[in-house]
Amino acid sequence: MKVLIVGGGGREHALAWKCALSPRVSEVLVAPGNAGTAAEPRVRNVEVGAEDVAGLVRLATAERVALTIIGPEAPLVAGVVDAFAGAGLRCFGPTRAAARLEGSKAFAKEFLRRHGIPTARSRTFTRASFDAAWLRAQNAPLVVKASGLAAGKGVVIAASTDEALASIEAMFAGQFGGAGHEVVVEEFLQGEEASFIVMADGAHVLPLATSQDHKRRDDGDRGPNTGGMGAYSPAPVVSAALHARIMREVIGPAVAGLAADGSPYSGFLYAGVMIASDGTPNVLEFNCRLGDPETQPIMMRLESDLTALCEAALERRLEREHARWDARAALGVVMAAQGYPESARKGDVIEGLEAAARLPGKIFHAGTRLEAGRVVTNGGRVLCAVGLGNDVAAAQRQAYALADTVRWPGVQYRHDIGFRAVAREQGAGG
Ligand code: AMP
Ligand code: GLY
Repeated sequence: MKVLIVGGGGREHALAWKCALSPRVSEVLVAPGNAGTAAEPRVRNVEVGAEDVAGLVRLATAERVALTIIGPEAPLVAGVVDAFAGAGLRCFGPTRAAARLEGSKAFAKEFLRRHGIPTARSRTFTRASFDAAWLRAQNAPLVVKASGLAAGKGVVIAASTDEALASIEAMFAGQFGGAGHEVVVEEFLQGEEASFIVMADGAHVLPLATSQDHKRRDDGDRGPNTGGMGAYSPAPVVSAALHARIMREVIGPAVAGLAADGSPYSGFLYAGVMIASDGTPNVLEFNCRLGDPETQPIMMRLESDLTALCEAALERRLEREHARWDARAALGVVMAAQGYPESARKGDVIEGLEAAARLPGKIFHAGTRLEAGRVVTNGGRVLCAVGLGNDVAAAQRQAYALADTVRWPGVQYRHDIGFRAVAREQGAGG
């Protein structure tokens, strides 16, 4: 079978690499892909944009693609799965209606409340309904979120109500275009964050291996928020008891709730949760897709055939599936371009990729492209170096040995990815 992966980041490189390993797969197309997918055996990049829904349908039809997997949220929120279904094509992901869980934070908050799923207290406003007096009466810090898609930039942690007011005004004034037409203001929650990702088929759920990412750019979880500077799997913070609790209190009610509301959820579903000190898994956000960079370590550990799992989900028989995982830990370090996340310098030549390819582990590409036969930077997050090991500490060593082999002018990466998990392991071992 031919498989199409939509997107061009590190997540999509990991998905394409994984699918190409399947004996059932003759070829993997990636639209548009990057320099990493271009170099994978049995993988071919196609110049169709990830958000060009009509172009993707034409491509899948012309190439007789048997299974399409969508990486990023934008085409899902735009209805790519509905368009594929209309053309009789199989595409794994939520419909436009179900993808509102990510596409509209206002919708998600109302949904969470209605279905009794734990989440921060919040209010949603438009400019017309905004209540400045209410805001001034709140205790800072406050979290201000543009409701629509804002490429991961639409969340502000405001240290004072003045700062919250300024952020809200900027959003109403069009800082994120239409995404800031509605604004969610919510209480600031403390705790440890975890990413909880499952596959759903409309009714049943198959949890993926646990993972955790680091959102802040700098060591010690400091500096600006990013899309993710590194991730590892499994995440020791998600104990068996917490896993059961998230399934029972978050994932189960979310999938049942969407089905009851008439928009059953099929696809990857990602709940970003903040674990309170009493263990309550408060939902910070839903994503209607896999995480990036969480996917890279998760795919390194997945032993089952991903295409078979996606097909089982499309045929609504996920309850009979079981995913097999490498018992080892995997850890990925994101290597970013100078200026990330505010801006990113592009076009720097990346050195050391050949030497890195001889080392254990795997480098997945994100913002890279080929220029005159050389791999150059082409985005904020450029590479993700993933190591495997018997514990997170060993996976971390392998990942950093890879990362330290590669360089370009201005490269930046954190040196402490996985520090919480390593501390937990040391605590358990000592
Ligand atoms: P979101 O896109 O909604 O997940 O927000 C991006 C990041 O902002 C999250 O990963 C958290 O680190 C942080 N965040 C979001 N909401 C809250 C909250 N209510 N309390 C504390 N931190 C938050
Ligand atoms: N790494 C966070 C995300 O994919 O949303």
